[in-house]
Amino acid sequence: MKKSGLDGLLITYPRDIQYLTDFTGEDSWLVVTARQLWILSDFRLEEQIARSSPFAKAVIRTKAMQKAAAEVIGDLKLRRIGFQSEHMTVQTHKVLAGEVGVRKLKPINGWLVEQRAVKDEVELKHIRRAIRIQQQAFKQLREEVRLGMTELEITALLENHMREGGGEGPSFPIIVATGPNSSLCHAIPGKSRVRKGQPLLIDFGTVSGGYCSDMTRVLSFGPLRKPLDEVYKVVLEAQQAAIEAIKPGVKLRDVDAVARKIIADAGYGDRFGHGLGHGIGLDIHEQPVLSGKVKGLLQPGHVVTVEPGIYLPGVGGIRIEDDVEVTAKGRRVLSNLPKTPKSAII
Ligand code: GLY
Ligand code: MN
Ligand code: MN
Repeated sequence: MKKSGLDGLLITYPRDIQYLTDFTGEDSWLVVTARQLWILSDFRLEEQIARSSPFAKAVIRTKAMQKAAAEVIGDLKLRRIGFQSEHMTVQTHKVLAGEVGVRKLKPINGWLVEQRAVKDEVELKHIRRAIRIQQQAFKQLREEVRLGMTELEITALLENHMREGGGEGPSFPIIVATGPNSSLCHAIPGKSRVRKGQPLLIDFGTVSGGYCSDMTRVLSFGPLRKPLDEVYKVVLEAQQAAIEAIKPGVKLRDVDAVARKIIADAGYGDRFGHGLGHGIGLDIHEQPVLSGKVKGLLQPGHVVTVEPGIYLPGVGGIRIEDDVEVTAKGRRVLSNLPKTPKSAII
């Protein structure tokens, strides 16, 4: 803040507010000064703020958020405030500028992103716990899943097991996709049923202490039919090679390239159209991103997914996803559900 000539920050993105204060409520803003944290919220969240963030001053507003923010900024005599331009709508900014004066507001973009990308021990503990819970739930599910079950039935079982295990909720809408639905990267579970020899793709995760986990496995009743049996092996090889390429100082795009080359060499280059992976944390998708399009290097404390996939419309898709921590010297694969071709067959 000092370097940028700012004496205050206005944090409006809920996950950033959570990162800085532990307060998880929506519809709230945070004013940060060198000495103080002010949470601007409303009656519904007053007690929650007192519980999660007793060190912050709560302003329980009865008027528009921008007016309340202007009052705090005035009371604190702040002259120049950074606001999160990547998270504020044009309309909100217009009203805020009307209250505060446009010259006081300086856009800051991505200030917390790099900080949040590097996890400390407490954050890692939560991510590891979320992974433990989801893995246990998956093991239970694997025992229960039967031919003829619908995607929605499987989704419900999995979500229940994760909650029973202590998960705070799915880290994103669970994807359960059977047969040809599995080539939809973000399939929405429906009434399709599990059939023999077809992929049952399950992409899921849970939340612990606000922190997300994210894994994908593909199961099948009996061996997968051609060509998906071969596709599975290609995706697995690409995933394992990319995981082994992970260590501090490696270019993010080079990790992506390792997987992409194996998939392209197998003839499926145009069927792997998304990035290799992404950071996980309070958000399910955060920095760093493993993709050919980005600059930057892996650092100790990064936690990334590695999730290559091959998607054949009308046939099906295979994606295998694990969560990997970058350590001082290399990597630690945090998730460890079986994924050999044999283990995928029920
Ligand atoms: N389904 C979200 C992800 O794996 O990134
Ligand atoms: Mn996923
Ligand atoms: Mn993912």
